[in-house]
Amino acid sequence: MKKASGPFEHRIIDTDEVSGLDRYQLLTSLVVPRPIGWVSTYAIDGVLNLAPFSFFSAVAASPMLISVSIGNRMGHPKDSLRNILDQKAFCVNIVTEVQVAQMNETSADFSPDQDEFERTDLPVGIADKVNAPYVANCPAVFECALFKEVDLGDAGGLVLGEVKAVRLNSDIQFKEGSCLVDTTELRPVARLGGPEYTLLGDILVIPRPTIK
Ligand SMILES: Cc1cc2nc3c(=O)[nH]c(=O)nc-3n(C[C@H](O)[C@H](O)[C@H](O)COP(=O)(O)O)c2cc1C
Repeated sequence: MKKASGPFEHRIIDTDEVSGLDRYQLLTSLVVPRPIGWVSTYAIDGVLNLAPFSFFSAVAASPMLISVSIGNRMGHPKDSLRNILDQKAFCVNIVTEVQVAQMNETSADFSPDQDEFERTDLPVGIADKVNAPYVANCPAVFECALFKEVDLGDAGGLVLGEVKAVRLNSDIQFKEGSCLVDTTELRPVARLGGPEYTLLGDILVIPRPTIK
């Protein structure tokens, strides 16, 4: 493995001195690659909703928690946040290589009465454990119950979901003697800055160190 060079002379960017767009671009091109949580929900009137979020992360294993940060649109909560707070439930579908175009389409500003599943011709499944739809041709889906919402003020809301069930395409194998999914079979897509995305690159296998 290559050794690090440096130390470097760093340019300091004072985040209070730059625009909101600059902060967004710095954040989203440095926190990379980000997995994409494709969030599916029901509106209170039953309309299905689907949108991608890359401010998405694993939070804890027991209880099994994930987080999604949902910004405001024109000062109002996006449909996904409103639906999650109303239904206390959502699914997170893991976006794979073959779904990238449809995922991108679902990020358009559809009005709340428009069903993104229908608009993008995606098959709908009904979650077993929570009141939410899911993308039936996604190989991996988390069925989540709302665990907590953190109000982020102008930045929208951070939702923590407790994963009540994991749905996995039965063709996807676990690594022997474990529940580790073979990620090369999953073929997840991750987001970089701006319009850039990435697939899995080289996989490094690095066992944890032991203290001698
Ligand atoms: C790959 C990708 C990642 C995105 N990540 C986020 C995000 O983390 N937070 C956010 O508020 N919007 C994000 N967006 C924009 C939302 O998907 C978009 O605002 C969408 O229309 C929200 O839909 P909704 O109103 O149905 O919730 C992302 C868009 C794309 C294409």
